[in-house]
Amino acid sequence: MCNNIILIGFMGSGKTTIGRELAKKLNSILIDTDSLIEINYDTKISDFFNIFGEDNFREIEKNICNWIKNNLTNSVISTGGGMPTIYDMRDLGKVVYLDITFDEIQKRIENDNNRPLMKDIKQAKALYDRRLQIYQNMAHYTIDALDSKCNIVNKIYNYLKG
Ligand code: S3P
Repeated sequence: MCNNIILIGFMGSGKTTIGRELAKKLNSILIDTDSLIEINYDTKISDFFNIFGEDNFREIEKNICNWIKNNLTNSVISTGGGMPTIYDMRDLGKVVYLDITFDEIQKRIENDNNRPLMKDIKQAKALYDRRLQIYQNMAHYTIDALDSKCNIVNKIYNYLKG
């Protein structure tokens, strides 16, 4: 198995923020898959969806997963919220799920205009409901994303070292 730490969870669960702190604590590197796409395509995620569409976005995400699988180890990976629906994250490393309620997600990112799949709140809730089980089943370790940043990072660290 690839020896990476894969952070999964719904939009707004804190994968990027936690990934950054965790990578620092582990002296590791962070790969944020959304940032990778934004840099490579020189476009915001929302513009990417508008210009190229979701299917192409998923195709690129799949390519990134294959690249991670073949090339990375000991890295922290912050995934886009939809990645676990198109690829088995367990093939890439230890999967940590940042668990969060939909109410909290709404509070955090309702007005974020770089999240195309949050535009329609009813559809976003349905997406959340569909994905919950996928996240739960894929996780090696589940953590309450409402805890403080420091606690979350320490808990993941202890889990990895334990
Ligand atoms: C998506 C989540 C986003 C981004 C894209 C699609 C999803 O990432 O990849 O907007 O399908 O849940 P975050 O989870 O970092 O918001």
